[in-house]
This record gives sequence, structure tokens and C-alpha cells, in this order.
Amino acid sequence: MKMRSAWTSGWKNSNLNESKFEMILITGATGSIGKELVRQLIDKGVKFRVLVRDEKKVTGLGDQVEIAIGDLSKPETLGTAMHGIDKLFLVTPDMGQVRALLGVAKQSGVRHVVKISTIEADRSLGPGKWHRQQEDLIKSMGFAWTFLRPTMMMINIIEWWGETVKSQNAVYFPGGNGKVPPVDPCDVAAVACAALTESDHEGKVYELTGPQAFTIGEMVEILAKALGKPIRYTDVPVFAAAIGMLRFGLPLYVVIGLMQTLGALRRSEYAYVSDVVEQVGKRKPRTFEAWCQEYKQAFQ
Ligand SMILES: NC(=O)c1ccc[n+]([C@@H]2O[C@H](COP(=O)([O-])OP(=O)(O)OC[C@H]3O[C@@H](n4cnc5c(N)ncnc54)[C@H](OP(=O)(O)O)[C@@H]3O)[C@@H](O)[C@H]2O)c1
Repeated sequence: MKMRSAWTSGWKNSNLNESKFEMILITGATGSIGKELVRQLIDKGVKFRVLVRDEKKVTGLGDQVEIAIGDLSKPETLGTAMHGIDKLFLVTPDMGQVRALLGVAKQSGVRHVVKISTIEADRSLGPGKWHRQQEDLIKSMGFAWTFLRPTMMMINIIEWWGETVKSQNAVYFPGGNGKVPPVDPCDVAAVACAALTESDHEGKVYELTGPQAFTIGEMVEILAKALGKPIRYTDVPVFAAAIGMLRFGLPLYVVIGLMQTLGALRRSEYAYVSDVVEQVGKRKPRTFEAWCQEYKQAFQ
């Protein structure tokens, strides 16, 4: 593993609290939450380290940021990245990677883990179950912890709907009439930034949502308005969606888990709105309308 220390000028913001002296390691720094978190930590004047596979993806971060090269699938590449770290930001949903990373973190003296989990973490199946097992592992290993549990993130729809909106002015999704309050990764990052840099977030579970719940049909209408063209929405039967995922190559246990997630969406089980982004992240959560305006080029 290589590590490059890029900062020389120390703290840029002398108003930070005492936790400014605790070194933070950000994993998933090039992902949808992580890259926003990196930007917000830099804006806040915090010194931190990122763990990335490819240094070329994190150029120009400036002198507050150390870059460590490593791969979560290769535990032997993680030790140097963890050196001197007090707080770890954990994004991966992969239990093997989480186990390996936490093992190295424990050995290295990491104290506090801020984990991206999911609003479904109390469910007994699917992604909720997997994230809950990771939360339990973090607790059992004796780390201080903060669990961030986002609902569906707005950015998913680029992957889910981008191609068919571009090519057919159409969205195919098994959403039924269920409602969900999608959240912007920027807002998840704002809460993560608070949890990593302020002192009173240990032992807290934060459920993160956007400001308003919509049906999938309503979301499609809002996207269509932002794009200035009609988009046809087809509510795909859940069974057909499952067959499609299996044909796409997803393992059966993953498809069964995702079917649970879709079932919960269709029953509006996570249709409630939380005030965590405002209370902890200290910002108004981004509306879905505003997000569509900002990302409309991804559908054009
Ligand atoms: N999407 C949702 O609606 C939703 C809702 C609730 C919870 N979540 C949870 O949110 C998390 C995903 O967050 P995200 O959307 O920010 O992630 P993301 O955009 O998928 O990014 C994944 C990040 O992990 C890094 N990564 C992947 N494999 C790696 C490896 N082997 N070693 C080192 N780094 C690796 C990627 O780096 P590279 O640039 O090298 O690929 C990237 O920075 C998951 O735990 C998911 O379950 C998602």
C-alpha cells in the first residue's frame, strides 16, 4: 500500500471543536456520499485521510487531505491507511470487507466508527439484515459508533431510469403506489460530516430522509417536468422485476433481499420524513425537484 501525505499547512479553521485533532479515515471517498463528504470536510477545514483504490480519482483535494491507496478486498493493503486513525467512515455493504476493515481498525486503535447503514436495518431480510449484522459487529467489537440509516437515495434513479428515459422517454419500475421520501447523498454527507467532527453523536442511530414522500409515479412526473418532456411510467410486476434481476446475473439471495425492499416500498413502510438532516446536518434537505434540476443532464 502506498500513502501520500499532501498537507503541509495544518488547520485552516481555528473554530473547530476539540475533535479537530482526531484523525479521520474516509472510505468510499469517490462514491456518491463519500465525494460530497470529502468536499464538506475540506470546506470545514478538517484534516483527514481518504482510502482509495485509484489515486487518479482524488486529484486536487488540496493540502488538508492525505491519500492512502488500498483495497477493501485485500486486508493486507489497509494497515498503513489506518495508522493514527481515531474515526473511521464506513460505506461498504459487504460483510467480508467490513469484517476485514474492522479487524485492522481494532488492531490500529481506531475508536469511533461512523457507518452508512440503511433505514431498513430493523428488517429481518435483505440489505436491512446485512447492514444490521454489521452494526451489531461494530458494537460487539467495542467501538464507539454512529449509524446513519438513509432511505432510498435520489441518485439511484440515474442508474435505474437514465437509459430508458434517454432512449424511450419511459421508466419501468416495480414501485406500485408506495411512497418513499428520497434523500440526496449531499444531505447524508452533511450528517456524516457532523458525526465525524462534532462530539455528541456517539451511540446515535440517525434515520435520514428527504423532505417529502412521493410515489414512484409522482417522482417520474417531477423528473418529466424538470426535463420538459413527458415520461411514461410502467409499474413493472415484482415477479417480472425479480426474473430480470436474475437474468442480469444477481445471486438469488440478493434478489430475494431486494424483493423484500421493494415490498416494503410498495407498502409505504418507509414513507415517513425525519428531521435529522436539518437537526444534525444543519441544512434544509434538498427537494427532489431541486435534485432533478441539478442532475437533468444525466437523463438527456
Ligand atoms: N443507494 C441507496 O439508496 C442506499 C440507501 C441506503 C443505504 N445505502 C448504502 O449506502 C452505501 C453506498 O454508498 P454510496 O452510494 O456512496 O457508494 P457508491 O457510490 O456505490 O461508492 C462506493 C465507494 O466504495 C469504493 N469501493 C468499492 N469497492 C472498494 C474496494 N474494494 N476497496 C476500496 N474502495 C472500494 C468505491 O471506490 P471506487 O471509486 O474505487 O470504485 C466508491 O468510493 C451502501 O452501504 C448502501 O447499502 C444506499
